[in-house]
Amino acid sequence: VVPDNKTMAIIGAGLVGRGWATLFAMSGWTVRLYDAMPGQVERCQAMCRLALNDLARYGLAEEPNEAYARIKTYRSMADAVRDVSLVQENGPESVEAKVAIYTDLDNLTPPDAILASSTSSIVTSRFTEKLKGRHRCLVAHPLNPPHLVPIVELSGAPWTSPEVLAQARAIYESIGQTPIDIRKESEGFVINRLQGALLTEAMRLVGEGHVSPQDLDKAVKDGLGLQWSFIGPFETIELNAPGGMPDYLARYSAFFERNARDPAPSTAWQGANAAKVLEEWGRTPEPPEILARSRARDERLTLLKAFKKKFKR
Ligand SMILES: NC(=O)c1ccc[n+]([C@@H]2O[C@H](COP(=O)([O-])OP(=O)(O)OC[C@H]3O[C@@H](n4cnc5c(N)ncnc54)[C@H](O)[C@@H]3O)[C@@H](O)[C@H]2O)c1
Repeated sequence: VVPDNKTMAIIGAGLVGRGWATLFAMSGWTVRLYDAMPGQVERCQAMCRLALNDLARYGLAEEPNEAYARIKTYRSMADAVRDVSLVQENGPESVEAKVAIYTDLDNLTPPDAILASSTSSIVTSRFTEKLKGRHRCLVAHPLNPPHLVPIVELSGAPWTSPEVLAQARAIYESIGQTPIDIRKESEGFVINRLQGALLTEAMRLVGEGHVSPQDLDKAVKDGLGLQWSFIGPFETIELNAPGGMPDYLARYSAFFERNARDPAPSTAWQGANAAKVLEEWGRTPEPPEILARSRARDERLTLLKAFKKKFKR
């Protein structure tokens, strides 16, 4: 069910758009870039070239020059989306922006093109209800950067057609991603609800003086996160009791129940608590340093991706 027409458009060519562009281009798709900000599509193209070369260096992309040549820039949305079978929208994270962009997309794209949004938290129902082509709209939420982190949450509105969801799944699988089905729409889907639970507790633990933010990061990067990169939290607990998950629940659920009765409050993100976290974390780096460190992160993620590919079960 992957369409014969492997032409897609990236609408919004920022951080996330450039990762999708890299990934689709290296998977043989023609990629059409459109962004409302002048100069952004050219910047995106240049970043894709760097990313494709990095992937090729670790054996994760073949023919990076050919992939790069498939990435085209456009000055108008109408021209970018005219003959595509898929749109990946990565515009601003607000309902108003998504409604405006989707209204244009619904009018400008071929009627059978799939319209997928990268939104981190806004459910499909909130920006597609009034569209004539609402059956072809869904959220396909990645993690950043999508060319190095394969997960993609697929979440439709009640009116998204099952065929569109099935075709979207086939497309993302065909480019090497790991789609998961979100069965119920809710703000933040699954990944950002999980991330929210962890971050809100982290804000509380640092704000209330249990631990420094630097040591909290170690608890994840040299602790929980190490095995979470190849087994998830449920498989982790299954292996942490001789009798598997039922045994784990019998041994440890009393603690987790007590713990859940005292959830971190939403105020952990505000006022004095947030100020304490920021103060303890230290200085905020300038944008060039953030960019350099993001590139260094991407290099380590590329190595991890190559490693996982080699040892796939
Ligand atoms: N950054 C992340 O970690 C992350 C992860 C997953 C999903 N997302 C989601 O992806 C989307 C984009 O986030 P980002 O981090 O890439 O932001 P970004 O600011 O880097 O990119 C957004 C781009 O959209 C462009 N834009 C603004 N209005 C537009 C319009 N009307 N038409 C076309 N382009 C327009 C901007 O010029 C900018 O280049 C958001 O919905 C966000 O929630 C972000």
